[in-house]
Amino acid sequence: MSWQEIPKLELHLHLEGAAPPAFIRGLAQEKSVNLSGVFDAQGNYAYRDFAHFLQVYEAATSVLRSPEDYARLLTEVLAQQAEDGVIYTEHFLSPDFCGRRDLSAWREYLAAMQEVAGQAEAQHGIILRGVVTCIRHFGPDAARETALCAAETAGDFVVGFGMGGDETRGRQGDFAWGFDCAREAGLGLTTHAGEFGGADSVRQALDDLRVDRIGHGVRAIEDPALVERLAASGTVLEVCPGSNLGLGLYPQMRAHPIERLRAAGVPVTVSTDDPPFFRTTMTREYEALERAFDWGEGQFHALAQTALAAAFCDDETRKALAKRLTPDG
Ligand code: HPA
Ligand code: ZN
Repeated sequence: MSWQEIPKLELHLHLEGAAPPAFIRGLAQEKSVNLSGVFDAQGNYAYRDFAHFLQVYEAATSVLRSPEDYARLLTEVLAQQAEDGVIYTEHFLSPDFCGRRDLSAWREYLAAMQEVAGQAEAQHGIILRGVVTCIRHFGPDAARETALCAAETAGDFVVGFGMGGDETRGRQGDFAWGFDCAREAGLGLTTHAGEFGGADSVRQALDDLRVDRIGHGVRAIEDPALVERLAASGTVLEVCPGSNLGLGLYPQMRAHPIERLRAAGVPVTVSTDDPPFFRTTMTREYEALERAFDWGEGQFHALAQTALAAAFCDDETRKALAKRLTPDG
């Protein structure tokens, strides 16, 4: 069976990281930017490890320089996601790259992206919401400014605040001010934890940032007490299996902990993270999960229901999506 059509919700996707290599090459050519070292001989993104991945990501992102560039990118990304059966998605949006954390510039980028989101919803039925994301290795001061951009633009479209970047730098709690600011603005909270940091990083995220969801979180599996805590608190993990394989956390899908986490009662969802970097799509993630763990309609339906409950959108949107997940919705 092909899993392309089954309705999906995708909660963890970095907009710049979803840029097809050909799109980035096209912009580089238009702007005469030299991107040597970003692509391999076949034209795919080339990176050696996580630190290098982040460097290549930022080099590729350097050609995205205007609201118009982001509008073009978002148009492509949402069309691709809709093609893979995604009916609702949250994108990590970065004021660091969109106007260098200047609030009025950020508003211009946001307006351009919201316009595209409206068009894509009308054309493909896909619904987009934004999770403003600070970048850990840019440090706590930058994160404060990013949180202020998030708080100032919180509303129907900007519904969450999160943190990506290099998890091995500093501690989650160094960023508490930004997360408190975002919480006060009514935003849902998520942070990357338990990807390149171990179980302790997930604990810090729960204790020091009090997030609603965890980006990745898979390395919680290294600590049984933490797995129990996640199951008891119902903390949702945004699991990105293809990303974890691409960055070398696990040698093959069968070794990935998603099935053990699910079986232990931890609420899991599935996303692609930065799909072209990991040569993945939501359809490919589903196919790989079927092959590795014999997952079928029951497990995939449960993933969608978990993501629906954990989405940061308002309840009216959630209800409309619920209808689309029922067989005759
Ligand atoms: N992890 C952390 N930060 C990121 C990632 C990721 O997979 N993708 C883009 N920024
Ligand atoms: Zn991520």
